[in-house]
Amino acid sequence: MALHSVLELLQKRNTLHDIEVKGWVRTFRANRFIALNDGSTLNNIQCVVDFENTDKEVLKRITTGAALHITGELVESQGKGQDVEIIVKKLIVLGESDPETFPIQPKKHSFEFLRENAHLRTRTNTFSAIMRLRSSLSFAIHKYFNENGFYYMHTPIITGSDAEGAGEMFRVTTLSDSNPPKNDEGKVDYTKDFFGKEANLTVSGQLEAETYAMSLGKVYTFGPTFRAENSNTSRHLAEFWMIEPEVAFLDLDGNMDLAESFLKYVINYILQHNQTDLQFLDQRLKDEEKTKPADQRSEMSLMEKLHFVVENQFKRVSYTEAIDILRNSKPNKKKKFQYLIEEWGADLQSEHERFLVEKHFKCPVILFDYPAKIKAFYMRLNEDGKTVRAMDILFPGIGEIVGGSQREERLEVLKSKMGDLDIDKKELWWYLDLRKYGTAVHSGFGLGFERLVMFTTGMGNIRDVIPFPRTPQNAEF
Ligand code: 4AD
Ligand code: MG
Repeated sequence: MALHSVLELLQKRNTLHDIEVKGWVRTFRANRFIALNDGSTLNNIQCVVDFENTDKEVLKRITTGAALHITGELVESQGKGQDVEIIVKKLIVLGESDPETFPIQPKKHSFEFLRENAHLRTRTNTFSAIMRLRSSLSFAIHKYFNENGFYYMHTPIITGSDAEGAGEMFRVTTLSDSNPPKNDEGKVDYTKDFFGKEANLTVSGQLEAETYAMSLGKVYTFGPTFRAENSNTSRHLAEFWMIEPEVAFLDLDGNMDLAESFLKYVINYILQHNQTDLQFLDQRLKDEEKTKPADQRSEMSLMEKLHFVVENQFKRVSYTEAIDILRNSKPNKKKKFQYLIEEWGADLQSEHERFLVEKHFKCPVILFDYPAKIKAFYMRLNEDGKTVRAMDILFPGIGEIVGGSQREERLEVLKSKMGDLDIDKKELWWYLDLRKYGTAVHSGFGLGFERLVMFTTGMGNIRDVIPFPRTPQNAEF
């Protein structure tokens, strides 16, 4: 006897005796047909019960959600809708599921409801498809870097520095919350804390990754990052996963090439390996689009969007050009934007990014050379003295998916920038050392993993592409 996955069995074409399968009941029809799913594929295997010769008490326990161990014969299906099915010879109910209270009924549930039941939502087709794609994308990411000579580096989760300088960090402390030690100024004395100083959850592994790029050459991180920004939007999480490559001797143009080739590779990978799940999500999105007013429907289906990204060059546009386009755009002139673009230097909001990508260029866009004022301290200053070698990649339906830059490698320029922005040079002494000992041009970027999963699954809310989302007022599970 051999235990098989549902995926394996569905690919067989010959009769097999004494096969075993374990999984969960999706539906049980006519006291006869069990649709069994074990997570190995979107598809269920039909298991046919000889109800006349099966104990009535056992039949009653075959309910949606129950875990079963089935032994039987795999045969060509007599019915429509599947090539093969299992004639059940022996059935053991491993775990019952109370049909009165099991939340995942065989019907359509709202995403809100399923979020409240995130521990069970991967028992649905939509969420199992999303999470299999998430896993595939993770694998493709490691594969791309491995094939291209990058080393995988684990950057710390707990850190003393605020890489992005936005002050959106979660504190890590073991001090008493009711009676923390105070210093002479009456403030909390963090020298008495676990790490002897203030510590936080990291917002990015970049600064540490830079140290390794400046010795190992090409590295990347892929880990959790944390941001205490109070943005309750469909694109922000307080805990998200970020992929951050960092490469020595690479300038901004090379960085854009890297990001574009990387994104195309991983999307291509799932197009080649995850067709069943993608086709399902493509249909789901088509059905959802039908419920929208005609003028709000997306012009491309999910599959078309994925192919489009893989097959077309990303459009590279400077921030200055983008501002001109936006300033003269219809929604700006008609005051349709919530934030009107009046002058050079304005920070771009997601409405502007999406206008550029979805309405103006109609393709992924790489914006570069942003005003220094709106970007992080570590980006390389251009000759004009007011823009930095930054790049953001904007995707349709998502907005910013990648943020990156060429790093400031000149010690004096970096120090003066840190001075202007009031960034603690003592805290980042080791970061400055990189500019003292063998400094060189280097670049990197950060890809928000969940934004990539949103794009590739067609999901509209970032809470639905991570197993257990952490957002303001929510850390359940
Ligand atoms: O643009 P960001 O802030 O860039 C950095 O952190 C750099 N240190 C990256 C680097 O150069 N190594 O963040 C990078 C990406 C964004 O483009 C976005 O996709 C994602 O991370 N991101 C978030 N995703 C989900 N929830 C949030 N709150 C996010 N904030 C950023
Ligand atoms: Mg950014």
